[in-house]
Amino acid sequence: MSFEQVKQADPEIYGLMEKELKRQQDHLELIASENFVSPAVMETMGSHLTNKYAEGTPGKRFYGGCVHVDEIERIAIERAKKLFGAEHANVQPHSGAQANSAVYIAMLEPGDTVLGMRLDQGGHLTHGSPANLSGQYYNFVSYGVDQESEMIDYDEIQNLINEHQPKLVVVGASAYPRAIDFERISKMTKAAGCYLMVDMAHIAGLVAAGEHQSPVPYAEFVTTTTHKTLRGPRGGVILCKKEFAKQIDKGVFPGSQGGPLEHIIAAKAVAFKEAMTDEFKAYQKQVVKNAKVLSQELEKRGFRVVSGGTDNHLMLIDVSQVGLTGKEADETLGKINITANKNAIPYDKESPFVTSGIRIGTPAVTTRGLKEADMEIVADAIEAALIKKDPALALEKVRFLTEKYPLYPGLM
Ligand SMILES: Cc1ncc(COP(=O)(O)O)c(C=O)c1O
Repeated sequence: MSFEQVKQADPEIYGLMEKELKRQQDHLELIASENFVSPAVMETMGSHLTNKYAEGTPGKRFYGGCVHVDEIERIAIERAKKLFGAEHANVQPHSGAQANSAVYIAMLEPGDTVLGMRLDQGGHLTHGSPANLSGQYYNFVSYGVDQESEMIDYDEIQNLINEHQPKLVVVGASAYPRAIDFERISKMTKAAGCYLMVDMAHIAGLVAAGEHQSPVPYAEFVTTTTHKTLRGPRGGVILCKKEFAKQIDKGVFPGSQGGPLEHIIAAKAVAFKEAMTDEFKAYQKQVVKNAKVLSQELEKRGFRVVSGGTDNHLMLIDVSQVGLTGKEADETLGKINITANKNAIPYDKESPFVTSGIRIGTPAVTTRGLKEADMEIVADAIEAALIKKDPALALEKVRFLTEKYPLYPGLM
């Protein structure tokens, strides 16, 4: 890929694309929800498939000329089903938020009671935040983590189900470093006669590779993004039991979206094929190993790791223990070319704009090729920046890694 046509047609945008590529190459990307797609996924996204309108589902479209995109979308659906062992898949949601909205629109009436994880303890905006339509249209009740263990309090979920009799329980998180026992929660929802939706956006790649318990056998609905650990294009997917297939498809279109993005759906298909390989399984194993080593190395250097560690691809660091706010730590790391994000920790005393924590994830650096020994260098860089206050030393360590593991060489 050379982007020569963009260079000719729009040098201003081309220039910014070049700068952004350099930023990605020169920084260590530790944002837990980001990753680097393969050149094949990238090429598919930037293709002529973007030209096609295809409202509806394969074989039942509102537009002519869909013969080939029908085939592409069918392949994407079949691969998603195979990858996760699902009975039905809708690959059209434009994003994770859209996937969640589509399930709500399909299965709930406005005002229905739903249980979701608190945003400030790891949940996502679309799990009932008052700032999001989920919290405005539905009666969300929140569960959180135990104050001592900082892990999900399963007894609290059971108590809240008993007390509020929700129609749906939403499980899944944006900033929860521990394994979630979907089987245990599904026993509670089944006994209470309510639906279970698992939003596995963050851990989908781990689930695909068998590195985390799959929610698919246990939940009526499973939503995901395709661009985080799954390493596909930016988008969403809904998996469900066959009996809900029609309702879910309607919840996506016409319930909440118009025409599907067939170029993105094709790129999802390419990513699903990649996710079925042994190389992808080895990658996910490494993501988890790297996260474990990094959290241990940070602990050794004096940082407090929320819940004492990680079972997945991310960790939360309580930077108040080293005299910083999340905002300060995020900004300081930015100056030494490490990209992470400030994040609330459970029972945080700071506001969401300041926070006491940072969230760190290993999916993107693992795609670059970093292994366990490199995690010690990452921990050294973070320690140099945040504890030793030695930005020159920190930057030297980051540069060593970004040069050792080049990203997208020759892309532009
Ligand atoms: C658990 C979870 N669900 C949904 C989303 C939303 O995905 P998107 O940004 O594609 O709308 C995110 C994104 O961070 C997430 O972490």
